[in-house]
This record gives sequence, C-alpha cells and structure tokens, in this order.
Amino acid sequence: MSSSESPYVDQMLALKAQYLIPCVYHFYRNPMVLSRGEGAWLFDHSGKRYLDAYSGVGVVNCGHCNPEIIAATEAQLHQLHHTTTIYLTEPMLRLAEGLDRFVPGRLKRSFFCTSGSEANEGALLLARLATGRSDFVSLSRSLHGRTHLTAGLTGLPFWRTDPYPPSCVHFVASPVCKDCPHGKHYPECDLYCTRELEQVLDENKDRIAAMIAEPVHGNGGIVVPPPGWFRRVKEILEQQGVLLIMDEAQTGFCRTGRRFGFEWEGIEPDILTLCKALGNGMPIAAFMTTDEIAGAYTRPGASTFGGNPVCARTALAALNYMQAHQLEQKAKQSGQRLRRRMEALAGENPVIAGIRGRGLMLGLELADHKGAAAADLLDGLLEWLKDNGVLAGKTGPGRNVLTLMPPLILTADELDHLCRKLEQAFEEVEGF
Ligand SMILES: Cc1ncc(COP(=O)(O)O)c(C=O)c1O
Repeated sequence: MSSSESPYVDQMLALKAQYLIPCVYHFYRNPMVLSRGEGAWLFDHSGKRYLDAYSGVGVVNCGHCNPEIIAATEAQLHQLHHTTTIYLTEPMLRLAEGLDRFVPGRLKRSFFCTSGSEANEGALLLARLATGRSDFVSLSRSLHGRTHLTAGLTGLPFWRTDPYPPSCVHFVASPVCKDCPHGKHYPECDLYCTRELEQVLDENKDRIAAMIAEPVHGNGGIVVPPPGWFRRVKEILEQQGVLLIMDEAQTGFCRTGRRFGFEWEGIEPDILTLCKALGNGMPIAAFMTTDEIAGAYTRPGASTFGGNPVCARTALAALNYMQAHQLEQKAKQSGQRLRRRMEALAGENPVIAGIRGRGLMLGLELADHKGAAAADLLDGLLEWLKDNGVLAGKTGPGRNVLTLMPPLILTADELDHLCRKLEQAFEEVEGF
C-alpha cells in the first residue's frame, strides 16, 4: 500500500515529521502503521497481516502478545507496577534467581536496568571497578548502544554519530573470514587475526579493562567468528588480566539454538549483558557476573526502572515459557530447515553471496556480479516482502544483508510460508 492511499498513514507520517527528532528513521518507502501482534504475526491499521521475520530486532522470541506471558504481566500491573530498586520487591529477586538457573556457568549476580545500552554501560563500569583500568577493546563491525560510551564502542560507521567519541576505545578487526583483511584463509591462518588483539593489549599495557563482543555480530551483518576464535581471544585476554564482556542483545535467550551464543564457543564471559528478548518486549535489561567480579561494585548503584515489578515478572514468565516450550530446540530445528531452504535459493540466485548465522539468526548477503554490496536491491526486496505480507530485516556495514530472525515459536507451516515468500521475492523482484 502506498502512503498516499491511506490518509491514516499520511497523518502518522505528518506527526512523525513534525514531532520526532529526525534521527528516528523507519523502514520502507511506503510504510504501514502496525497496530496488533499475535504469535509470529503483526497486523497493520487496515487489518492486513505480516509474518514477522525480524521479531522487533530479536525481541519477541516467545511471539507477540504471548498469552501465557502477558497473563503474568497483567496480574502484576494490577498488583504493583512501580517502586524502584531502593525498595525490596519479589519479582526482581525471583528474576535474578531465575537467571542464575537459566544462565550456564559461574555467572550468578544481576543488575537490572531498562535497555541494552544501559546494560552495556553498566558492564563497562563494572569492568573498570574490577580491574582498576580505564580502556576497552571492541570489534570493527560491532554495535553496542547509543550512550556516549557504548556508541563509542560501536564500530559500524552507520551508527557512529557522535562527533566526539570517547578516546578510551581501541578497535580490532571483526573476524570476517570471507573478507579477511590479512588475505589469509581459515584454518591455515591459525587465527592470525588475533595477533592484532595481542598487539593492542601490548601497546596499552595495563590500561585495558575489558573487551566487548557479540557472539554473532547482529547489526554487523550476522557474522559468526571462525571456530576457536573466541577461545583464543579469551586466552589472550586472560594472560593480560582483561575481562570479556559478551553482549547477547541479539543472540540471547535461545535465538541461536543454545540458550546463549557464548555456549557455542566453549568459553564463559566474565560479564554477560542481556536485553531485548529478556522481557519478550517489555523494557528490561541486565548485566550479570560472577560473585568475585560483583564484589568490586559496592558503591551505590540504582536504576529508577531497573527490576520494575511488571517487567521483571514478565521476564520470569518468559524464562519459564522458553524452558517449558523448549525454544532452544525449536530454534535449532527451525534454523536448520530455514538454512537448507535458503541454501537451495542461493544455488539459483548468484546475488546471494553468502549465508551466515546460527539457529534462527540468519543473514543472506546480497552482492552484484562485481561483488559490490547490493543495498538498493535489498531495499526493493524488503519493500516487496512487506507488500506481500512478510517483514524481514537488513544489517551489515553495506546495509546489504537480508536478516531473518523470526519468533522462535514459529510453526513448521509458518516457516514454510516464510520460505515460499522469500523464494517468490527472488523470482519477482526486478534486478534479481
Ligand atoms: C548487540 C546490541 N547491543 C546493544 C544494543 C542496544 O540496545 P538498546 O537499543 O536496548 O539500548 C543493541 C540494539 O540494537 C544491539 O543489537
């Protein structure tokens, strides 16, 4: 539907143009106004439905308006909806206990806040307190938030808006084997790229508090590091007393076919940051750490909405739902099916230059016959998909990676519907 066809959409666009800061951008040339969600589906103002293959950027892992989860939300709303962390409330404490059980390994203590940026910011502060050091290492294709420091740790140029970024951040290249900046090939390279990290740590002796990384780059274009990369990185960090912060904003809560992305790597981070799917759409985030590291943060730390009873109870209901409905297994199995279908599609469409991801976090990189990022083609494809009832995402430094992250509760029929629509799109959209 074109915006000119709908006075209601035009009215919403006019409000946006008049009252929002212009940085708030939206997908689509002809956007719709979303007004309802149910399971894997979203509905617009006209009642048209869309299969949501992006989950509000990896948030609604348990599906939109999941009745089992929102029953807990509603009950809490009527009982107590706000106090703040200076008072004791049970939902926050039960959630902390639930997270200790849900998250593998020694990560045990939580601090609750409301967004991923804030969770990362808190994790960085904790790392400084625990190490007595000031600086950080981040990866070139990362995104870690919008606060001054987390935007400074964000390597993707698209999201580096601050003209005065912090000077305490050192970047190393993301491990993208396909575009290896050293011209090496895995596994013969023996992870040559990790030498850059060693060099940065040597050049900044005793200054680096932590390295922050996503287990699979989300906005960076769904990049999965080569096997063994994170293990080598962790060894290097440990030799120099540097902490590892894993940002599981997009990979957390069963998305990759494991509860957390770090589990694929055979390592454990020192600090874990959680947001997005933690509340299945309610604004709650956290950073978690071990007893030992938590002991460094004893000065007062509070968050007005951190551990809010409604959000905390919703998050606990989401954790219970994920376990009861085995979302880890579902993501793994559906992810395998989706990947097989997309690989077959790539066989017929050379514009798909690569397929990457884990579980239900999949990226299809689009490139033209010269290998250049096909961002305009992807925009056309996304518009077609939206017109035909599917919402998908785009990521990557070249904005050319078609990104699929549907709710993990997606049924086999819904997955098949998604694949058929994608196959049809590659047939029908001009330019493919
Ligand atoms: C990996 C990662 N970290 C941090 C953030 C920031 O989270 P928030 O938008 O909740 O502040 C995002 C948001 O997209 C993200 O993808």
